[in-house]
Amino acid sequence: MSDESRTEPRTAAVVPAAGRGVRLGPGTPKALRVLGGTPMLVHAVRAMARARAVSLVVVVAPPDDAAGVQNLLDEYPLPAADAAEVVVVPGGETRQQSVSHGLAALPADIEVVLVHDAARPLVPIDTVDSVVAAVRAGAPAVVPALPVPDTVKEVAAPDRPGDPEPVIGTPDRARLRAVQTPQGFDRKTLVEAHERVSCEGEGATDDAGMVERLGQPVVVVPGHEEAFKVTRPLDLVLAEAVLARRRAKDGF
Ligand code: CTP
Ligand code: MG
Repeated sequence: MSDESRTEPRTAAVVPAAGRGVRLGPGTPKALRVLGGTPMLVHAVRAMARARAVSLVVVVAPPDDAAGVQNLLDEYPLPAADAAEVVVVPGGETRQQSVSHGLAALPADIEVVLVHDAARPLVPIDTVDSVVAAVRAGAPAVVPALPVPDTVKEVAAPDRPGDPEPVIGTPDRARLRAVQTPQGFDRKTLVEAHERVSCEGEGATDDAGMVERLGQPVVVVPGHEEAFKVTRPLDLVLAEAVLARRRAKDGF
């Protein structure tokens, strides 16, 4: 055991991967889609395990296929240098429920938790490390985020379905950030947020938002363009291009 692992709080990553990927279209569940020959979920698990701080990765699988996900992960063992324990638990109906299931599987000695979407397979290690560092420096909740390139409008429902949506406001873009994962937390804070904040349906799309509702501070560190979420079909094209660029760079 290294000096670091004795003195630093033990850190785990929860990787929600139980979504169906409706916006990506029909086919294999999103987390199991292949990018550059490797399933998206495997990329995401490797990205977490690569961080020195992370010693445990809890993968939250589709509830009807936890065994299939376990088999898949067994086929792609982690490189020895990145060895982390990987466990698989079944997810829930919403992302929030899936994360709760992951949190419930954490051993008692875990003090820092990262929550990372399987759908963000290409997050660079520096982003993961800077989130961990900010939590270790004392922030109860940390989110990586980027400035928003587009101007964002707030709209209301139209009077009649199908009519153009009326714009009711334009938030100052300079103050907006698009948030990514991994989001990092003091474990107790995140568990309390999940216990106390009750949301309907997909109400909480982001774990830090639940911590905000507790009245606890949340801080932002710089995100990365390669930490984008694979959501729609075009994102698969972008992900393949990022992997091709990495392979080309590694070739030099
Ligand atoms: N997720 C989950 N459990 C759910 C819903 C989502 O673990 N019940 C996970 C997804 O697997 C994904 C992450 O939460 O890694 C972010 O969600 P999103 O990008 O919305 O993925 P999906 O819900 O799968 O996609 P869609 O909303 O298009 O169906
Ligand atoms: Mg979703």
